[in-house]
Amino acid sequence: MPTDTEIIAVDLEWAYRLLGFGPLVLVSTTDGMRPDVSAIAWCCPCAKEPPTFALAIGKGHKTYQNIMKTGYFGINVPTADLTDLVLYAGTASGHRVDKFDARRIPYHLGQQLPSLPLVSQCAAWLECKLIPSSEAGDNSVVMGRAVAASSRAGVLLDDHTWNVEVYPTLHHLGGRNFLVGERRVQAAPVKL
Ligand SMILES: Cc1cc2nc3c(=O)[nH]c(=O)nc-3n(C[C@H](O)[C@H](O)[C@H](O)COP(=O)(O)O)c2cc1C
Repeated sequence: MPTDTEIIAVDLEWAYRLLGFGPLVLVSTTDGMRPDVSAIAWCCPCAKEPPTFALAIGKGHKTYQNIMKTGYFGINVPTADLTDLVLYAGTASGHRVDKFDARRIPYHLGQQLPSLPLVSQCAAWLECKLIPSSEAGDNSVVMGRAVAASSRAGVLLDDHTWNVEVYPTLHHLGGRNFLVGERRVQAAPVKL
């Protein structure tokens, strides 16, 4: 993945295209004092207008507690070169360690949510405000409304589909196993 590409704003109309194909994400939060980041495989867009997203998060996670405390979170979309970071973020807990500090994870702050850390090595970012959420067993389905979206230049192509050939994404198979999304196939137009 290019490392020196500029970060550009993504129109909120197309925010759902940053997640519509089901990549694993990193969810970044803060408790007001310390940033945190965790891996979340269970994530999906729920509405285009307003742009709304859902994450299934364990209620014991520091991530969940931070979101309930501040009312906001970041969705960061990692590329295939970030498996080590993803596994670390999904194994260590912010209850015990400052993951950003321990692994020197570079971050920048949100445009609309200026206290929100965003993982700079990722390819796209959504800044979300918490909206009413639901219970799902030992998880909570945490819902967020995006107030800003951004990406590395070239992540979305002219037709607003993700450029998987240049920015291959991670999809979780289980344990330490991932599927890499790196090749598109295009269906023929449907004739009705
Ligand atoms: C690849 C991967 C995917 C994960 N997906 C989820 C998920 O969808 N929901 C969840 O609650 N935890 C998920 N986890 C577990 C959390 O990321 C993990 O418990 C993390 O340590 C929580 O950190 P925190 O306490 O700092 O929030 C996943 C872990 C890995 C490694």
